[in-house]
Amino acid sequence: MDHPEVAIELKDVWKTFARASGPTLAGMDLAVRRGSIHVLLGHSGTGKSVTLKHMLGLIEPDRGEIRIAGEPLDSADEVRLREIRRHFGMLFQSSALFDSLSVFDNVAFPLREHRPEWGEERIAARVEELLGLVELPDIGEKMPSDLSGGMRKRVGLARAIALEPDILLFDEPTTGLDPVTSHVIDDLIVKTTRDLGATSFIISHDIHAALRIADVISFLWQGKILESGSPDEFRRSSSDPIRRILRSAGVNE
Ligand SMILES: Nc1ncnc2c1ncn2[C@@H]1O[C@H](COP(=O)(O)OP(=O)(O)OP(=O)(O)O)[C@@H](O)[C@H]1O
Ligand SMILES: [Mg+2]
Repeated sequence: MDHPEVAIELKDVWKTFARASGPTLAGMDLAVRRGSIHVLLGHSGTGKSVTLKHMLGLIEPDRGEIRIAGEPLDSADEVRLREIRRHFGMLFQSSALFDSLSVFDNVAFPLREHRPEWGEERIAARVEELLGLVELPDIGEKMPSDLSGGMRKRVGLARAIALEPDILLFDEPTTGLDPVTSHVIDDLIVKTTRDLGATSFIISHDIHAALRIADVISFLWQGKILESGSPDEFRRSSSDPIRRILRSAGVNE
């Protein structure tokens, strides 16, 4: 992929679902800078996951444009779309591990799929390396059902970074985890993003985590980005909806 400054760009994106009372996205503009950790905050049901699905080309906008590393998605055919998606690593809210496969086979899955020329020995070495990176060495033989929620997320993260993606997408990576485990996962996201020299786009409700790890925070409100800025700018925002969520999270005024 080329290396333009903006990894992901949404320009005036509109989306109304059938039977919905109004648009879910209403003129959304968003630019995710290459190499940044960008957190999208917003209340439940306001279109955060829908935004991410637009980035993957899983949902088409009614209007507007989405560009990945400068390339407009609407001009990509299915083959090109698959190639573009290969640059993404994705960690879903549910971790989405294959329950019938061992941890080893889960992490090996994208490698066997996309690096068959490596052979099993090299793949095994890479899987061990990845499990080491997420601080879960020696658990390859376990099944996903044997793991805690936090461990599942870490295995999901190992799988997401297996192909060294340029862009990592996270949908609520820490929802449902205790604060200490969430902190560990957040730190791992930062570390793996920096180690890979990747760009991370993270959907979250966790304002404290966003303030701690983000380079840029965007706040989704009524179908568009109300404000984007550094954590300090976000903390000092004078916008009412942002002041309200800062207050409700107990962030100092
Ligand atoms: N494929 C779809 N078809 C119809 N409506 C949809 C579809 N996907 C999402 N929606 C609607 O779009 C709105 C936004 O959903 P979305 O999943 O993006 O919310 P969210 O901000 O991710 O919420 P949460 O924080 O709870 O995950 C919701 O009203 C949802 O019902
Ligand atoms: Mg969601």
